[in-house]
Amino acid sequence: MTIRAPAARDYDAAMLDRPAPERETTNAETVADWSFVNEIDKIRELGLSLNKILTARRGCAVLKMSGESGRYALKIADPPSQSRNRTDIANMAVDRERHALRRLFTYTGKIYVAHGEHAGRKWLLMRWIEGRTAQALSKRIRDTDSPDARRDKMLRLTAAVFKQVAKLHDRDFVHGDLQAAHFLIEPSKRLRLIDFALSGRQSAGDNLYRGSPAEYVAPETARAKLAGEKKIKIDKLSEIYSAAAVAFRMYTGKAPAFGKIDNIRSLSWDERFSIVASSQRCSFKDLGAPEFPAFEDVLSWCLEPEREARCPDLWDAVRALERIAGSPPG
Ligand SMILES: Nc1ncnc2c1ncn2[C@@H]1O[C@H](COP(=O)(O)OP(=O)(O)OP(=O)(O)O)[C@@H](O)[C@H]1O
Ligand SMILES: [Mg+2]
Repeated sequence: MTIRAPAARDYDAAMLDRPAPERETTNAETVADWSFVNEIDKIRELGLSLNKILTARRGCAVLKMSGESGRYALKIADPPSQSRNRTDIANMAVDRERHALRRLFTYTGKIYVAHGEHAGRKWLLMRWIEGRTAQALSKRIRDTDSPDARRDKMLRLTAAVFKQVAKLHDRDFVHGDLQAAHFLIEPSKRLRLIDFALSGRQSAGDNLYRGSPAEYVAPETARAKLAGEKKIKIDKLSEIYSAAAVAFRMYTGKAPAFGKIDNIRSLSWDERFSIVASSQRCSFKDLGAPEFPAFEDVLSWCLEPEREARCPDLWDAVRALERIAGSPPG
């Protein structure tokens, strides 16, 4: 019997629109639904049990597991009963991520622990990273800090985010799904990048756009999507736009092209791509964020709609941010 591999395609866009649940909340009933994970050999061997469901969308779930040997994150494809095709796509994503985590073992903080398959679902066990997401941290800074503290903290957070992405680019990878929820800040202040399910290696030619949120997609990628292209390459330069779009949103609360849009989820994907492709952008001031021209200039350089004019290497942006951080006040 020949088993046909599913066609590589974007994630189901509708799944991306489901709001991410809070990191630490779930209810006991849902945990019971997932209790089958306790049957996985490796989970038994490590004596782990399921604590919390962190997310369950896009065909994948992330479960927090713990035992005497510590805490772990288990990524596993959703129950196959929902849709065989969706499980196949999720299985491919889990595979892609575990390959990336093994290649990037040191870079990721050695979080890879084990992988396998259980009842048709691929799973990946990772070490648990303590800390908060850059999404939660930046929201708190926006909501509670003084303008000066906001400038200072966001400048440093952005430099750390850019550095982490620049190091990944140096290792031949594009992440493919940069967003603030994928940066975790440990209590030691060390920043970790997670979720390599959509990543690719430039030298292997598998650096494709695989359906990350439109808000962070570079204009050239949005234009290619609108033109109906199927295998769209993303590269360091398009990911420089994405990193800056993440930073812009962390600072202002709005993605660069979406300053005037109240509910992105009410727009179709094509409408979102059209907005990105049109390269409209609000300023910090328009969005009621504290003015910070030097910082805004660096982000604008990285957000240049024309690739030729865009910051060519994220390390250049890191150095520019560090110069601002080091410059005397006034
Ligand atoms: N190793 C880990 N340590 C701690 N938290 C983790 C770890 N892996 C994932 N998480 C948490 O789970 C969330 C979802 O993880 P991830 O983004 O990898 O999964 P996903 O299936 O892509 O979910 P989403 O669709 O929400 O992005 C992260 O934002 C993070 O809060
Ligand atoms: Mg994710």
